[in-house]
Amino acid sequence: MNIRLDKFLSSQTDYTRTDIKKLLWKRKISVDGKILRDGSIKIDPEASEIVADGRKIIYRDKVYIILNKPEGFVCATEDKREKTVMDLLGEDLKRKDIFPAGRLDKDTTGMVLITNDGPLSHQILSPKKHIPKYYIVKLAESFQNDYIRQFAEGITIDRGERCLPAKVRQCPDSENTALIELHEGKYHQIKRMFTAVENHVEKLCRIQMGNLPIPEKLGIGEYMEIMHKDVENLLKPTDFEEVFRNVSEKFSSYWINIL
Ligand code: URA
Repeated sequence: MNIRLDKFLSSQTDYTRTDIKKLLWKRKISVDGKILRDGSIKIDPEASEIVADGRKIIYRDKVYIILNKPEGFVCATEDKREKTVMDLLGEDLKRKDIFPAGRLDKDTTGMVLITNDGPLSHQILSPKKHIPKYYIVKLAESFQNDYIRQFAEGITIDRGERCLPAKVRQCPDSENTALIELHEGKYHQIKRMFTAVENHVEKLCRIQMGNLPIPEKLGIGEYMEIMHKDVENLLKPTDFEEVFRNVSEKFSSYWINIL
C-alpha cells in the first residue's frame, strides 16, 4: 500500500493539514528513522515506521475503543460547553474519524464504543437489528415486581410514545437496583420509563452491548482498544438470564460504577 505521507498522517491522527506542514517544516516527521520534509512523498505505512512529533503512528483501518465513561462527559466528538468522551482518550488514539457509537447521558456511566466503523455503528444503534444493551439502574424507590410485566408489555412514556418490550429484574440483595435490557435508545429512555412507573433513576450504568460486556479490569475513565474479533461479539445473540447470572455473580465489581 502506497500513500502520500501527509494524507496518511491526516487520516490516522487528529493533526490538521497546517499541523502536518508545521511538523514537516520543523523536521519532526520521520519514516524508518529518516527525517522527511516533503509531505507528497509516497510511503508504505504497513511496512515502515512513521514517527510524528515523537508519536509512533501505526496504520489502522478500523478502530474500536471501549471506554468506561465517568459522569460529567457528553457522548459527542465536540461540544462548545461540555467535556466530551473524546477528551478522555490519549494522544496515541486521537484521530479525526472516530466517534462514539450511540449516546449515554452526561450523568450515565459505563460502556461506550468509540469507533470509525460507520456500518457497525449503524447496526448497533438500529432498533431493527435488536442489539440489546444492558444497564444497571439504581432507583430512588424500591423495585416493584410488577415492573417486569409492565416493561415486557412496552411502557408508554410521556406524550404517548411507546417503548419496545424490555426486560428488567431486581438485582440480588438490593431493594432498589435492577438490571434492564433495552433494544432501542430513545432520549433519556430508562429515566423516562421509570418515571412512567412512578419511580426515579438515581444512577445509571451501561454494562454490556450485545454479547460484549464491559471488561472488568476497566476502571472509571479508562479505555482499551479491542480487536475486530471481539467486536463481533457485539452482534452475537444474548440471553437475559445469562447476563443476569453474570451480573449477580460479579455484582460487587459493578457497584463501583453506580455508587
Ligand atoms: N437511558 C437513559 O435514560 N439514559 C442513558 O444514558 C441511557 C439510557
